[in-house]
Amino acid sequence: MKIMKQLVTFTIMVLGVSLGFAAESSEEKSEPERDPMTGMIIAEDWELVRNNCIICHSPQQFLRQRGTRSTWQSVVDWMQKDQGLVWLVDPELEEKIVTYLAENYAPEAGNYRRAPISATLMPPNPYVSETRKEFEEKKAKGLIPKDVKE
Ligand code: HEC
Repeated sequence: MKIMKQLVTFTIMVLGVSLGFAAESSEEKSEPERDPMTGMIIAEDWELVRNNCIICHSPQQFLRQRGTRSTWQSVVDWMQKDQGLVWLVDPELEEKIVTYLAENYAPEAGNYRRAPISATLMPPNPYVSETRKEFEEKKAKGLIPKDVKE
């Protein structure tokens, strides 16, 4: 009977510890704090982005996007060159805006389509295009370098 009691106590301890861990790890993944007005993640310099980027369109224009730093840089360049964001001339301010976007709206696994299935794992395609046929013919003749991705 004593051994049973010890076993129960031990089980409860193990459960307690693992629950503790679970709580801790779910805390780490908890949602970031968001501004109720704009829905923007509240992080360093978020107000600078708000002040400059929601004048012409809703914040959803950029909040629904995900991108690397260079993608965000090109979005901001595009806004400056073609869309009328003419007042953003301070490179330091621009840097901060791009950094906020790149850090808080970076590509995440869940937001991307899965990687395409390799052509070798796919069934034969009955709708092979002319381009594909030409590629296959050239490949068969050894005219396509081996390291070319399909
Ligand atoms: C002066 C007005 C103006 C400002 C300020 C502005 N934008 Fe835009 N933005 C536009 C316009 C106009 C479009 C639509 C362009 C099109 O579709 O041809 C657009 C489109 C976008 C898109 C594209 C959405 C899509 O569906 O592809 C993103 C992303 C974006 N803006 C981000 C930003 C960011 C980030 C900022 C701040 C640095 C910003 N914008 C500031 C005018 C502005």
